[in-house]
Amino acid sequence: MGLEEFIRPEAANFSGYKACKSLDLPEVKAAKRVIKLDANENPYGPSPRVPQALGNYQGFQFYPDAEQTEIKSYLEYYTGIPGEHIVAGAGSDQLIEYLFRLFVNSGDEVINFSPTFGMYRFYAELYGAKVVDIPRGADFSIDIDRVKRVISPRTKLIFLANPNNPTGTLAEWDTIKSLLKTGLPIVVDEAYFEFSGETVAPLVLDYPNLFVLRTFSKWAGLAGLRIGYGLFPTGVANYLMHIKDPYAVNSAALLAVKESLNDLEYLRASVEKIIKERERLFTQLKGLNWIVPIPSRANFILCRVMNGDGEAVYKGLESRGILVRYFDQPGLSDCIRISVGRPEDDDILMDALKDIGGGNEGLKP
Ligand SMILES: Cc1ncc(COP(=O)(O)O)c(C=O)c1O
Repeated sequence: MGLEEFIRPEAANFSGYKACKSLDLPEVKAAKRVIKLDANENPYGPSPRVPQALGNYQGFQFYPDAEQTEIKSYLEYYTGIPGEHIVAGAGSDQLIEYLFRLFVNSGDEVINFSPTFGMYRFYAELYGAKVVDIPRGADFSIDIDRVKRVISPRTKLIFLANPNNPTGTLAEWDTIKSLLKTGLPIVVDEAYFEFSGETVAPLVLDYPNLFVLRTFSKWAGLAGLRIGYGLFPTGVANYLMHIKDPYAVNSAALLAVKESLNDLEYLRASVEKIIKERERLFTQLKGLNWIVPIPSRANFILCRVMNGDGEAVYKGLESRGILVRYFDQPGLSDCIRISVGRPEDDDILMDALKDIGGGNEGLKP
């Protein structure tokens, strides 16, 4: 196009993000049956109050409230944390970006614990920062001494997904405490909090370096509307409110949060169903002698494939209309990640896995 020389090198050399498969793709639309277990979405969808309220809404011609006044009062009620600590964004992805916008210059460093959620690296690359990656141990725990050794004057953010994606595991409280003691900005990404029941949110009131991220994408079934929020010390929240895109969160998403939080009984029942199904699915996966499922506190299960070829299983499932996640990256090439579906979806998944693996006898070459 002749404009390459003008493009920022961070963008030109960017490795990007492999997104999940959309149901809008022609090949997906053409398929006889699609079971979507690849993006940790909620198979039961949002509260029925959400589509109803969106259908009746009369204000789409107006810009949304840049101050996020109403949503903050709803989130204050839901989290128990005062509104001056809260900032909403278009998905927690956007809040991750805002943290880079606030803290990270080109040449700075951020720490994450692999394998983990890819968006920390995504924004690090785009902002010209270096990801200092600390691989987790065999049980996915974090070596805190190693963290202390790699911290440098250029370290600006430490990201901990908790539960972690894609492992589904929780960090020890001692690990989080040790991270907080470093005094560096610590981001605890609790995208799956509602499935784990474990949170450090109340500590935001005590620790000036703790930021907690949450989302409505997973438990509340609102992934398509892009709405998440963060809990920050008030000083950081004020900066974020100042530097965020003014109308970051659209009116439909704001309305959807209100309706969701007015229907907590429905959403909590849906989360309970998913947790119960997670345990049932885990037991069934364990029954296959060629797959090792990792116990999960989220709404997905990471599975190791004994013969080492995660991609073959991913492709075998895809050809049967079942979408799961395969990560083409070191340490995960023998894995697939399966989002917990409805029992009837997971039964079809199990039949497909048995078919691929030749009963319970092991994966065919
Ligand atoms: C750990 C983690 N954080 C954040 C997100 C992104 O959530 P959102 O849809 O709110 O941007 C995900 C989604 O997969 C995730 O796994």
